[in-house]
Amino acid sequence: MASVISTTPKNSQPVQIKSVYIETFGCQMNKSDSEHMLGLLDEIGFQQTAEMKEADLMILNTCAIREGAEDKVYSYLGAWNKHKKTRPGTLIAVGGCVAQDAGKSMLERAPGVDIVFGTHNLHRLPDLVLQAQKTGERIVELLQELPEDLPEIPVIRQSEISAWVSIIYGCDYNCTYCIVPYVRGREKSRTMDIIVDEIKELSAVGYREVTLLGQNVTAYGHDLSPKVHLGHLIERVGAESGIKRIRFLTGHPRDINTEIMDAVKNVEAACEYFHLPIQAGDDRTLRRMARGYNVDFYRRIVEQIRERLPNAAVTTDLIVGFPGETQEEFMNTVNLVEEIGFDAANTAAYSPRPHTPAANWEQQIPTEEKNERLRFLNSVVTETSHKCNKRYLGNTEQILVEGRSQKGENRMMGRTRTNKIVNFEGADSLVGELVDVRITATNPWALRADLIN
Ligand code: SAH
Ligand code: SF4
Ligand code: F3S
Repeated sequence: MASVISTTPKNSQPVQIKSVYIETFGCQMNKSDSEHMLGLLDEIGFQQTAEMKEADLMILNTCAIREGAEDKVYSYLGAWNKHKKTRPGTLIAVGGCVAQDAGKSMLERAPGVDIVFGTHNLHRLPDLVLQAQKTGERIVELLQELPEDLPEIPVIRQSEISAWVSIIYGCDYNCTYCIVPYVRGREKSRTMDIIVDEIKELSAVGYREVTLLGQNVTAYGHDLSPKVHLGHLIERVGAESGIKRIRFLTGHPRDINTEIMDAVKNVEAACEYFHLPIQAGDDRTLRRMARGYNVDFYRRIVEQIRERLPNAAVTTDLIVGFPGETQEEFMNTVNLVEEIGFDAANTAAYSPRPHTPAANWEQQIPTEEKNERLRFLNSVVTETSHKCNKRYLGNTEQILVEGRSQKGENRMMGRTRTNKIVNFEGADSLVGELVDVRITATNPWALRADLIN
């Protein structure tokens, strides 16, 4: 173990450098939270390691969105517990959405766990770790809501090019299948000033792209006074920060409006990419999901986007096998994928979740049937994505180079403004650059291109 001594700004006592290994499941919000955990732990002398074997502290940041994600948590914790026996003194901490839900019961189900903390008290992690180290006791600490004054939390980002910036936490909707409001609490926006300052700093140190994050990013600002919306924020970030690309994720169809679309159109840095989960292409299903819109409403939104930004990419999330979904209703979803022509879609079989009404409804669809519908939907999504991608053939596109492609020697990877993955031959020195490429080939998931000099 490294024995470097450093002084932290916070308690100015010399601390031993230790190492932390972190594994993150779930959405971008969780990934961003993990970066903040690393920032917080750095202040008490923990540095990230990619080697689980040498970690003094192991953190699992968990996702509860589907049963499978939750099962994965307990199987990881079982393996981590075995590892811990070979390395006494290692601490295991569990955070994120499963921890927020399970709380104390996690200590029984996962014997090796030392610390359980939730989604609302990340800022407490250093104290909890120090306390566990000192006392050897197991700790569970959860808050029901975020603190009134949002603490500004240090961060160590994994990318030096593209940064996640949370702008709103929580979700005020109550979709009948979804556990997120239960584990993430009510909507709470960060102020525009704080967000713009953060992005100015990111731009100043060389970041090229930010993704404005929230479970429901299109609801941004309704809880601030004066009220603002995402369009205002995009305009300010565009005008003041110097960042080259602005993205946002995830939008709710009900909250997106033409002002937000206009901001994306007018602000050069704002990328013409809209991720708008529709969940189902059938009105009765949408009503029972309590989504607050029907298919026509969604069609109109896509129309409004395409009127302003004809080349915009539109992606979505879809659930199949919602309780009571008939074959005909399922086919309405399939047909809508083709009709809208989604650039991509995250698809999932409905999974009953605790604390959600739909989990207790009769007419649950058998697993086999759900999986069959999922396979069929996926084949249509793949075909539709490929059609969208083929339209890029021969185009000149600006891409932001992110790094080496996994596809082999000399292959680099970047993304178009519409978030398409592009593989091309080029040098490592291009990482972080915005370059023009000509698209030469496509498949459903990515584009191939030649660099234009
Ligand atoms: N706030 C976003 C989505 C957040 S959850 C929105 O409202 O659109 C991410 C995705 O997980 C959802 O879009 C949904 O497709 C999926 N999901 C949520 N709960 C699920 C469940 N119980 N079973 C299957 N998929 C689910
Ligand atoms: Fe879940 Fe619905 Fe909130 Fe999205 S809007 S996080 S699907 S409750
Ligand atoms: Fe999963 Fe929690 Fe995100 S449940 S999808 S990690 S908000």
